[in-house]
Amino acid sequence: PQQQPTVFVLFGAGGDLSWRLILPALFNLYLDKYLPEQWLLIGVDRQDYDQHSLAQHYREGIQQYSRRGIPDDKTWQSFSQALRYQQADITDPTSYTQLAKALVEQDKTWHGKAERVFYLATPPFLFADIAKGLGEANLAKARQRARIVVEKPLGHDLESFRGINQALNHYFQESQIYRIDHFLGKETVQNILALRFANPIFEPIWNRRYIDHIAITVAETLGVEHRANYYEGAGALRDMVQNHLLQLLCLVAMEPPVVFDAHDLRDRRMDVMHAIRPISAEEVQRYAARGQYGAGWMNGTQVPAYREEKGVAPDSNTETYCALEFHVDNWRWQGVPFYLRTGKRLPVEASEISIRFQDIPHQAFPTSAGLNAQPAQLVIRLQPEEGIVLKFMAKQPGPHLVLRPVEMRFSYQEAFQATSPTAYETLLWDIMKGDATLFTRADQVEAAWRLLMPILEVWEANPATDFPNYRAGTWGPEAAEVLIAHSGRSWLAPT
Ligand code: BG6
Repeated sequence: PQQQPTVFVLFGAGGDLSWRLILPALFNLYLDKYLPEQWLLIGVDRQDYDQHSLAQHYREGIQQYSRRGIPDDKTWQSFSQALRYQQADITDPTSYTQLAKALVEQDKTWHGKAERVFYLATPPFLFADIAKGLGEANLAKARQRARIVVEKPLGHDLESFRGINQALNHYFQESQIYRIDHFLGKETVQNILALRFANPIFEPIWNRRYIDHIAITVAETLGVEHRANYYEGAGALRDMVQNHLLQLLCLVAMEPPVVFDAHDLRDRRMDVMHAIRPISAEEVQRYAARGQYGAGWMNGTQVPAYREEKGVAPDSNTETYCALEFHVDNWRWQGVPFYLRTGKRLPVEASEISIRFQDIPHQAFPTSAGLNAQPAQLVIRLQPEEGIVLKFMAKQPGPHLVLRPVEMRFSYQEAFQATSPTAYETLLWDIMKGDATLFTRADQVEAAWRLLMPILEVWEANPATDFPNYRAGTWGPEAAEVLIAHSGRSWLAPT
């Protein structure tokens, strides 16, 4: 595809995010010919790299993490000749004048005005400094061609989010700011919209008249790994619910857009946020449950408790699991609970959205047919095996009338015989095209923080007395079962 000349400025070029996710994704885009012909990456960091050593460092990361690896030397040479490095102190204004000079030079070389992407792969405490540096060096003013990209954590609470946002808004317009929630870049997450709005058969039953409840599960088998430094101050609610799970809720619950564009889709997602009933401090106990993993067994291997992990306080109050019940107060969803749960060290790796339809209104079959509580269920599987599963009842072959639950399974892998681009490939390409559809707008992030603040505050003020309250390799704490049992329901096992 024809694209504008682009300079991709990567702050935090020497960091883990750049090495493990961004460069492998850029390299795949290059292999697929999605990078513009005139494309240049300028890595900015304090570390002691030069053009050559940075390229070498990236080569290793790409070999390890990209979907396809490096086919041959020649391909690598032609990709890596577009990598530059500027060693710089991010807090020093002269770094930005130097960068501005390099950008002007590049425009001259290309005889045109390149698009400029400023990607902040740095810890968030540097966001304000970088935005300021760019702004003061006049690098934010070209509203059409300058874009700034930031990733979570976008703050620690509502207040600090507003601080980050103010700093960005001071120099950049909202249309220039790309906030990444990498779940939105996942193919299967975008497919929620295709399923709902490219097929006329689901929409008529996608509401309170046919749906009993919706459950969103993001279960991870990994523990905290080497991220205690960040995770201790975050916990599952900030790390996963504030962004990814609420995005999923918005996509299943939103109204159909009029036009498939950034403006409409983001408005519709925001409408859902607006309709979610706030949970007050007094209601936290009823609508939110937290957990922390203890030692246990995963696939035959013994794993330590969260509190025994490197960098974790021995009396840590950080939750590694949470479950929530939300209500969306609008016409479509009145009375339909949305259950969300996510945790680390759960028995399987599974992300899915389960749409549980209502029970049949009248039981005409004899009790001997065995039609017990097995209502129809549609499961959107996001990972690991992306697909859609419809569960329903069928008659078992034979002379007796016996009913059994069966499944219809659709697998993306089988249907399309192709590996999907990673979330980062999709999102990086969109940034370079200037398409903000899959990025979060400030009002949505703010609404998510506002919604979760009472829970965060109550949990902080009242440290859990029962942590650790679930064994690694099990489905979370008893409190999560109690939460969903309030309405007489239970969690359905992932498909
Ligand atoms: C990240 C969280 O945003 O998402 C991690 O910080 C989590 O804790 C990860 O493991 C899950 O994303 P994915 O793409 O691996 O499912």
